[in-house]
Amino acid sequence: MKTIDVVLGMQWGDEGKGKIVDALTPRYDVVARFQGGPNAGHSIHFGDRSFVLHTVPSGIFRKGTQNIIGNGVVIDPLILMEEIHAIEQMGVDVRSSLRIAKRAHLILPTHRLLDAAQERGKGANKVGTTGKGIGPAYTDKVARIGLRVGDLLLPDFHERYQTLRDQHLRLLGMDRIDDQAWLEAADELRRFTIIDNEVEMNRLIETDHTVLAEGAQGSLLDVDFGTYPFVTSSSTLCAGACIGLGVAPSRIGRVYGIFKAYCTRVGAGPFPTELNDETGEKLRQIGHEFGATTGRPRRTGWLDLVALRYAVRMNGTTSLIMMKSDVLNDLPVIRVCVGYRMGNKQVDYFPFEAAGEPIEPVYKDFEGWQTDISQCRTYDSLPSQLKDYIAFIERETGVPVDIVSVGPDRDATIYRQEHD
Ligand code: GDP
Ligand code: IMO
Ligand code: MG
Repeated sequence: MKTIDVVLGMQWGDEGKGKIVDALTPRYDVVARFQGGPNAGHSIHFGDRSFVLHTVPSGIFRKGTQNIIGNGVVIDPLILMEEIHAIEQMGVDVRSSLRIAKRAHLILPTHRLLDAAQERGKGANKVGTTGKGIGPAYTDKVARIGLRVGDLLLPDFHERYQTLRDQHLRLLGMDRIDDQAWLEAADELRRFTIIDNEVEMNRLIETDHTVLAEGAQGSLLDVDFGTYPFVTSSSTLCAGACIGLGVAPSRIGRVYGIFKAYCTRVGAGPFPTELNDETGEKLRQIGHEFGATTGRPRRTGWLDLVALRYAVRMNGTTSLIMMKSDVLNDLPVIRVCVGYRMGNKQVDYFPFEAAGEPIEPVYKDFEGWQTDISQCRTYDSLPSQLKDYIAFIERETGVPVDIVSVGPDRDATIYRQEHD
């Protein structure tokens, strides 16, 4: 019997999960999303083509791979159908390679309005959500009033929809909404292959299929262990893959933890190593750090090893994958946060107070490599300064950096370990 491998973001999202899932897909029969929804923006580049996926798993561009949207995902039919049509335009047969969980919840048009209203209500304390209705959709799931993909198949779906929509409209103080396009997309979604994904997932593992679970967002946006309340509304950690796909914890195999060689964050909330200076701007420009979903400029800063160690521990990460090292090519000095100073205390763990009290990072400086590594394809050909940087990260986290990414293309990837 096989196990499921998991790809997770170790920071605040946008680590490069899409690129790595696409690069690893040839090793797997199945790629499955298990949480989040259209708040995700996973970019994939190959040759002269590029695409940003929001709800569809990043295995979709590899022929022969099965893709599953799991029960833990929240789906906006309108966004999903637009995405599918765009992928079909690229000549991909999405309908035969994508299956969708009956138990996945639907994002209604009114969820997006509620998301916006809640953000407005928070004033200066707003989270800076993606505005896709994620929080309100998960709220309804937990409140046991949500609608699920399987409900689309029921004869009274429209009445159920209207009941929930009208409840939302009352909260919003509105009496109508133009939801025609959404309803048409929902009708199209109904004709896709809708499955009991927990049954299918376990059958696949039991029959020796290889499965890669694709996380969205990042560990520090986890609803329990992230920088609450500046988080998303789902479990972004490894444990979320079990709940979001219907597999037991003992079925988890490799846990790939993806991190950037520096750090970014979109939206509000604590970011101890943030750089509000020229270097921060340089990282933003060279790294093209603008949101793949919202286009917002991403906040940038140095790599935070306190946060990375925390993410490694919470996920049981077995392999680290370092992204965007090439963005640091020009820098003479590269700093890494190795501890936090809070008041007169120094802490080497990620504290509850991270979202409340000011944190002063303690840095260790590394010499930059100041050479272009984007054409390197073997670990040996990387500059010694970068290898020292990687060795330090491995020592501090206790986990090997098995893959180093040196550019957005699926080929700009250095594998240090040959996998079975
Ligand atoms: P995801 O949400 O984790 O899938 O990441 P995003 O796609 O939102 O953001 C990552 C961005 O970095 C995308 O524009 C990728 O094309 C790009 N990218 C990924 N890996 C690398 C890399 O190694 N180097 C550079 N320069 N860009 C990369
Ligand atoms: P991927 O999968 C980066 C952030 C938002 C906001 C907070 C809550 O591409 O890495 P939400 O709309 O989820 O209620 O917003 O979470 N956020 C992300 N940041 N990458 C993402 O996804 C994100 N998805 C949500 O900016 O701060
Ligand atoms: Mg993204």
